[in-house]
Amino acid sequence: MGSNDTSGYYRKLIPQWERVYPSTAALQDAWDFYSECGWQDPPKQLAAPLQQLQWNTGRILDYGCDTGVMLQFFAQHFPQATLYGVDINRSALRQGRGLFPELNLVESDGLDIPFRDGYFDLIFLCAVLKHVRFEDRANLFAEFRRVARFLYVVEAHSESKRTEEKHGFTFYYSDFREELGATLTELHFSRAGTDFLALYDLSGAG
Ligand SMILES: C[S@@+](CC[C@H](N)C(=O)[O-])C[C@H]1O[C@@H](n2cnc3c(N)ncnc32)[C@H](O)[C@@H]1O
Repeated sequence: MGSNDTSGYYRKLIPQWERVYPSTAALQDAWDFYSECGWQDPPKQLAAPLQQLQWNTGRILDYGCDTGVMLQFFAQHFPQATLYGVDINRSALRQGRGLFPELNLVESDGLDIPFRDGYFDLIFLCAVLKHVRFEDRANLFAEFRRVARFLYVVEAHSESKRTEEKHGFTFYYSDFREELGATLTELHFSRAGTDFLALYDLSGAG
């Protein structure tokens, strides 16, 4: 769980997120961006790891959802699912609620997920992990395990632990596969352009 000190770090970044996001509210813009990052067929590649999940109902959470634009993709693949998003960026959530009233978009304080234990089947985490400080990651993974059965991560591929200052943010890169695999059970790992896609079973992990 995030202490006040911890959530303070993320709260301080909210004005900066509000300056640069939302980036888009159109799924096609996201696909174009992935193509620029070297993906061959973004919708197909993003869908592939999900084939092994044998459910078609339940609840899906996009953690760091921005407007919730990527939840449109999950709506297509899991039409029976109820879709949720959390983010620290209130103005992106406001815009998302206007655009996608069917989504449940909820504000978070940085690391705590404001839902009860076991509430979600799947958490989607896209381009968020590198924004979470190294020292906060174990708590975030514990939150994921607390609230969900599966975790789907899309992130910039990196094989070394380093920080980088860019666009007014600090990026916390690591060998993400090694880091995630240390406590979570990997069901899928693949590369797409400069990114990786990884699916984890959270049950029994820890
Ligand atoms: C690089 S953007 C990615 C947005 C979206 N997931 C996507 O793939 O287009 C990172 C998002 O994570 C949110 N974010 C950053 N730190 C967060 C935190 N600690 N808790 C929740 N959301 C966070 C930002 O507000 C922003 O919307």
